[in-house]
Amino acid sequence: MGRLDNKIALITGGANGIGKQIATRYTEEGAKVVLADFNAEALEATVAEFKANGFEAHGVKVNVAVEEDVQKMVDETIATFGRIDILVNCAGVLDMMQAAHNVDDTIWNRVMDINVGGVMRSSRKVLPVYMEQKSGVIINLSSMAGITGGRGGLTYTAAKHAVTGMTKNIASHYGEFGVRCNAIAPAQVNTGLTQSVDNFDMFGLKQATRGVQTMLRAAEPIEIANIALFLASEESSYINGVVLAADTGWSAY
Ligand SMILES: NC(=O)c1ccc[n+]([C@@H]2O[C@H](COP(=O)([O-])OP(=O)(O)OC[C@H]3O[C@@H](n4cnc5c(N)ncnc54)[C@H](O)[C@@H]3O)[C@@H](O)[C@H]2O)c1
Repeated sequence: MGRLDNKIALITGGANGIGKQIATRYTEEGAKVVLADFNAEALEATVAEFKANGFEAHGVKVNVAVEEDVQKMVDETIATFGRIDILVNCAGVLDMMQAAHNVDDTIWNRVMDINVGGVMRSSRKVLPVYMEQKSGVIINLSSMAGITGGRGGLTYTAAKHAVTGMTKNIASHYGEFGVRCNAIAPAQVNTGLTQSVDNFDMFGLKQATRGVQTMLRAAEPIEIANIALFLASEESSYINGVVLAADTGWSAY
């Protein structure tokens, strides 16, 4: 018996990094997964890898900042596997650590559209389905920047605080319909996310990393995926509206 037998999970940002690892853990525990990502090449490779390993996986190329794409992503999940039980809002981008006086409007709009708008749009689309079936789980990727003030750029911090707020709002409003919505707030995770950026705001980077020596170590994606597995499974049936820090105690300092 797997911990997610017969469950259908839709994972945005599922082609790489944390999302891919979450999808891996879910399939290992019996779920069928839809991976939604705008990196078509990585998506194709990841879906092929899952199928080669004998897992049921379907890929949808989407930009979570685009409403029609989000509609398609959820509709295609239901058309392919018959239902949806778990939505993981993992797609996200960085803001180059831009401090408040250096915020660029293009970066602000992009990060807000993807990191905040993507979570809102995906949740807005699945909630009526969850209300009708009287069950459903949403797991959001917030961040240490979503529960503390100084560890990211201004836009990323604002966006992840919004994710924290949406998580609690949805949990509070939809708990009575059998919906659970929780978030994970990791410190640093070893993925391609930070490695792909080279034009950091050096002032913002310096300010945001002043206390980094008090973080014991970065996480491996599997350590975040195991939390996402717990939050998706019945083992966490009494947990709703929680933003769980995954940071080796960094935020406790
Ligand atoms: N890596 C970290 O240190 C860290 C720490 C805290 C929180 N997070 C959060 O975890 C989530 C995943 O991060 P990761 O490290 O796995 O990043 P990643 O870059 O390895 O993977 C993110 C995936 O999201 C996809 N994506 C980005 N924008 C998209 C869009 N508009 N539509 C669809 N797909 C899109 C990318 O193509 C990529 O496959 C993000 O929300 C990030 O903010 C990461």
